Amino acid sequence: MLNKKSIDDIQVKGKKVLVRCDFNVPIVDGEISDLNRIYGALPTIKKLVANGGKVILCSHMGKPKGEAKPELSLAPVAIQLAKLLGQEVVFAADDNVVGENARKAVEELQEGEIVLLENTRYRIEETKNGEVFSKELASLADIFVNDAFGTAHRAHSSNVGITKFIDTCVVGYLVQKEINFLGNAVAAPERPFVAILGGAKVSDKINVIDNLLDKVDTIIIGGGMAYTFLKALKNDVGMSLLEEDKMDYALEMIDKAMEKDVKFLLPIDHIVAQEFKNDTPFKVVPRGGIESDWEGLDIGPATRERYTNAIANAKTVVWNGPMGVFEMENFANGTKAIADALANIDATTIIGGGDSAAAVNQMGYGDKMTHISTGGGASLEFLEGKELPGVAAANDK
Ligand code: 3PG
Repeated sequence: MLNKKSIDDIQVKGKKVLVRCDFNVPIVDGEISDLNRIYGALPTIKKLVANGGKVILCSHMGKPKGEAKPELSLAPVAIQLAKLLGQEVVFAADDNVVGENARKAVEELQEGEIVLLENTRYRIEETKNGEVFSKELASLADIFVNDAFGTAHRAHSSNVGITKFIDTCVVGYLVQKEINFLGNAVAAPERPFVAILGGAKVSDKINVIDNLLDKVDTIIIGGGMAYTFLKALKNDVGMSLLEEDKMDYALEMIDKAMEKDVKFLLPIDHIVAQEFKNDTPFKVVPRGGIESDWEGLDIGPATRERYTNAIANAKTVVWNGPMGVFEMENFANGTKAIADALANIDATTIIGGGDSAAAVNQMGYGDKMTHISTGGGASLEFLEGKELPGVAAANDK
């Protein structure tokens, strides 16, 4: 259980409450193309509005690196929030974030009203956790709420620096929910506990594999990272993604799994192609059968069956990373099979953010999972067993 004060532990009536959200959402042609992070922020905002807080929202978007880049303005987020909340959201369009517009809007705020500040990364100090910007943000509010789970692995001005200059710093409902789901799954899992790890690179998942090997009953490996394990076991992988410098590590993890009596499953067949595109001839080959000018782009049908069977009796599943290049239809079946299997078992199913969350939502399985994290990097670091600075900075209970 998360041992941090939350918005349920404070009085906000008439108080100026600055809420750090993660509105780092994809924008296509000026429109937000994935609303999940916005939906995730709503319960906290609604609660503060209902309790008479004067609500000031802030977030980063993308990596403007200290410049006011119009394509990374939070203006479309204000419009979307107003639609979803059914009330006005005043957008303070200051290139320096805490400028004249923000100060005036905050000054005029009445109980239950909302202001959204401009992209915090328009300020160069944000990602450096700079004190001046932290103080400026703090000067707007009486209370700070961190509800940006997706950014909790960063120590920046708007989620960590600011907490030095405001006494009451608590977490919001989204942070609370994310930590409780991810934390309970890992700390007190109902067994069998299966972790499914995919994605392109072993190097991104090294610490997660190491940490989870101490906790799970089975680890299932797919995606580009599988080929480094297979090559380390002396299988031909052709042109498939390979991190040669991680092969020793791959063997170490396989040994650790044996020592810990953890089942460690690797693909037994592959879908291979000669070009990295959807419209190209492809075929199924067994493990070790990838010819030199072919590359693996998805797990094969026998692997799908093996993995689906390994999940069937699980009671807790944590999944992070796709099984193949799911963005291309011909190489999406492995990822789809896993999503389908998870949707149909009687288990707690937790999906790490980023690509696996996008895949599950795109494939229409979103509402069939117990929890889909809104944090890619943050959920990964949490699964590595690391403390998240954005969470640690809130007041203890
Ligand atoms: C994310 O999308 O993972 C978070 O919003 C953090 O963004 P960042 O990787 O640019 O810090």
